[in-house]
Amino acid sequence: MKNQVKIEEIIPSFKKTINVPSDKSISIRCVLFSAIANGKSKIFNLLESEDVMNAVRAVRKLGVSCIKKKNYYEFSGVGINGFKFKNNTFINAGNSGTLARCIMGLLSGTQNTIILKGDKSLSKRDFKRVIEPLNCFGVVVNSNNGTLPLKLKGSELIRPIKYIEKKGSAQVKTCIILSAINAPGSTKIKAKKSRNHTELILKYLNYPIKIRNVKKYDLIEIEGRKQFKSFNYKVPGDISSASFFIVLTLLSNKSELLIKDININLSRLGILKILNRMNANIKIINQRKYKGEMLGDLKIRSSENFKPINCPSYLNSSAIDEFLLIFLIAAKSKGVSRFKNLDELNKKESPRLNIAVNFLRMIGIKVIKKKHDIKIFGNPKLKLKKKYYIKNFIKDHRVFMMSVIAALTLGGKWTISDKDSVNTSFPNFLSIIKKLGGTIH
Ligand code: S3P
Repeated sequence: MKNQVKIEEIIPSFKKTINVPSDKSISIRCVLFSAIANGKSKIFNLLESEDVMNAVRAVRKLGVSCIKKKNYYEFSGVGINGFKFKNNTFINAGNSGTLARCIMGLLSGTQNTIILKGDKSLSKRDFKRVIEPLNCFGVVVNSNNGTLPLKLKGSELIRPIKYIEKKGSAQVKTCIILSAINAPGSTKIKAKKSRNHTELILKYLNYPIKIRNVKKYDLIEIEGRKQFKSFNYKVPGDISSASFFIVLTLLSNKSELLIKDININLSRLGILKILNRMNANIKIINQRKYKGEMLGDLKIRSSENFKPINCPSYLNSSAIDEFLLIFLIAAKSKGVSRFKNLDELNKKESPRLNIAVNFLRMIGIKVIKKKHDIKIFGNPKLKLKKKYYIKNFIKDHRVFMMSVIAALTLGGKWTISDKDSVNTSFPNFLSIIKKLGGTIH
């Protein structure tokens, strides 16, 4: 079979410097914001992965020109309410929940109907979470029980809203903010804390948005229908992609890694906070500010004597895409780690909480799961010898990549399917593994 990898040896020690691909969340937001800016925006380092290229195709379908130049993408933004497209235009979001949910907000002020669809994984995911606030704005969405494919019809007459976002979902928050931009007047959102790239880009663009922090929530107030100018942006490296190599280094023998130019926005740093509490050796150096975001380089050394964690659930949202990897460290810790309220983890590209529990049990780790809480009974001496087959049935890039990291650090003979799933976020994942000395067939 072609679309699989075989791994039969653990990775030898390495001491290297790498870059990982650009941030997916920021790349998709750059595409969407440059589509509604006025004039030509240049986006450098745009992540060239399937999810982001689907975003590029989507805005082209809405009448936005996007030209790939030598080292940037040039978007000719049409301004707010400037999209031009035929009734019943199809948009295919592929595997990307971020693209699908965010673009629905962007379209709230348009009058022609859009038909939005996605791949098998995305078609299983919940869209009620965005349909509900969009209905409050006055947007009509027809769907089969809140899933894709769906039909969305915006309106010139949408009204601003007040909304409480309780899931801690940045996709939902961004959908509401983008819709608010199309609505005359002031929209107020009380949003459980989640990644805040959308707010930071808008602030950088001088868009009228106010944010107040209150405990676990952000109070956001945004004025609609304010045009903004085009912009230039260089997308930094993705901490979620870096995380695979952080954990690879931590679990490898006598290794050191420097990962350059990573976005270290606090709302994304849950993995570092959690792993450092577990005795991982990860340092941020060379911190600097870039257009409202924080950037830095990450220095990681192999670590031992991992401590278990009683993970506070306020960290869940800032580590939401990294839990599969955090669980691997918990599996190698001395003692029992506890994670709570991880219901959102089962709402990702695949039901990751359930998949993680099965995975850990398969490698001989005791796990107790109660609803959305799990206890992982770590074993610092964990060394695998058997054969393991990972069938990544529902395309999930992070399940594939986490399995590769486990195979390269824990031993055993592994066959891992659906190698192509990396193309959604991290097309050169396997070539970096090889550069570090990993043997993959
Ligand atoms: C994302 C938000 C998160 C995350 C996803 C990207 C974003 O999803 O899991 O990979 O770019 O806004 P939720 O907002 O649904 O938690």
